[in-house]
Amino acid sequence: YLQHALSIVVVGASGDLAKKKTFPALLDLYRHDFLPKSVTICGYSRSKMSDEDLRTKIKPYLVKKDAAPDPVVEKFLGRVYYRSGGYGSVEAMSKMVADLEVWEGQTGDASLIVDPESKTVKHGHRAANRVYYFAIPPNVFLDTAASIKQVGLSATGFTRLVVEKPFGHDYDSALKLTDDLGAHFDESYVYRIDHYLGKEMTQNLLVLRFSNTMFEPIWNRDSVQSVTFTFKENFGTEGRGGYFDRYGIIRDVIQNHLMQVFTLIAMEQPIRVSGSGSADYVRDAKVAVLKAIEPVRAENVVLGQYLGSDDGTQPGYKDDAGVPDDSNTPTFATCVLFVKNRRWDGVPFIFKAGKALNETKAEVRVQFKDVPSGSFLFDDKPLPRNELVMKLKPEESIYFKTNVKAPGLANKPIQSELDLSYGERYPSLYNPDAYTRLVLEVLRGKQATFVRSDELLESWKIFTPVLNLIDAGEIPPLPYKFGTRGPEESDELIEKMGYTYNKNY
Ligand code: BG6
Repeated sequence: YLQHALSIVVVGASGDLAKKKTFPALLDLYRHDFLPKSVTICGYSRSKMSDEDLRTKIKPYLVKKDAAPDPVVEKFLGRVYYRSGGYGSVEAMSKMVADLEVWEGQTGDASLIVDPESKTVKHGHRAANRVYYFAIPPNVFLDTAASIKQVGLSATGFTRLVVEKPFGHDYDSALKLTDDLGAHFDESYVYRIDHYLGKEMTQNLLVLRFSNTMFEPIWNRDSVQSVTFTFKENFGTEGRGGYFDRYGIIRDVIQNHLMQVFTLIAMEQPIRVSGSGSADYVRDAKVAVLKAIEPVRAENVVLGQYLGSDDGTQPGYKDDAGVPDDSNTPTFATCVLFVKNRRWDGVPFIFKAGKALNETKAEVRVQFKDVPSGSFLFDDKPLPRNELVMKLKPEESIYFKTNVKAPGLANKPIQSELDLSYGERYPSLYNPDAYTRLVLEVLRGKQATFVRSDELLESWKIFTPVLNLIDAGEIPPLPYKFGTRGPEESDELIEKMGYTYNKNY
């Protein structure tokens, strides 16, 4: 396929996601020669605009403020076009496709297409691959898919659809969405993006777990006390309140992003993690562990909703436009899951996520059990537990909290870290954004880092019963102030699960 022309259609080109994530990821790939210089990028949405209007609209997202003129950005924008039309309009879509064909033909070598019947070269067209990136709300997914099916498939190369969350609102709606999309396109066409799968540390989890001998023997209920997945942001919904209020923090980040990280931590070893067949091997392993989870129980959930900060400088959730005054939507949640299998039975998997907290970070913390008779060994002082911490953001790092002798004359343990901070160890590493990595995986046809439909449905099954209770107002969120650690009840639940903060050392 490498010699084919490539068209990338960004459906929903005038929306926020396209401007903030899709176009910058495409520029990054273009800059690093992962896209052919002749690529066609065509924005498509309902608003009427010229090619130039779209270029002007997206440019501020491609260049840093006050940066020197960048010839790569100009060249890239020269590859960007725009066509408008309804998402379900076969007429508008086929007009766009006619233009794609022209651009694809213009940019290529006409001798590449061989008519399979006559074995003669068909001139005037070049074989083309097409990617449709759906940066659109789910209510127009299906209309778009139907019109692409009717007029937008490439006759000579691949056609791939990249679909963004939200993939449904609960189990039933996700099932309907996958079934309806499946009626137009089977799974091999569909790349459901969860950008957490594109993060450096998430991708590293497979390598860390399965390419070292030391982790496997301790990666189970005998050694692990608990695993905590934390997602914190020190900003609120900031104008996204209208969207957020329909979803809440569990749907926004736990059911999707954190569960993806969870599956990689908790699944069994896939037969292969890269190369032939890996897309299904990896996703089969993920589905298997999801199936072993009991739906979340209400008593294992603490919810919160933020109020304005004490000094009045930061607004409360309900001050965000689009959030109703009587909203019960959680902006914070801690919930605990249990995996019913031989490896993990009884080990709490704790998920904690919130907006408007005291810091911004995402991490996984595997806490190991107490050293047997540890406190007897050292002056009746409890030994801190070992912890393996994998930080996904803001910076990537992995460290292992280990007890070592305090240097000097006293024979007492202190906790230190075996520390791998990526920024220090790999200062000149090209560490692209998650979207950049994932769009490249789409072009490479690697589906392992995308969410398969059965995986999606299994993870909805785990959360749907408790989400129903939340939506019915039966688990009201507790108030917490902007800039704090969230409701104290969350710490109480985590402590009840046996997690200990290493306060003594
Ligand atoms: C998005 C959520 O999917 O992920 C946002 O809708 C959240 O609410 C974002 O802020 C977090 O992504 P990242 O890459 O900044 O951790």
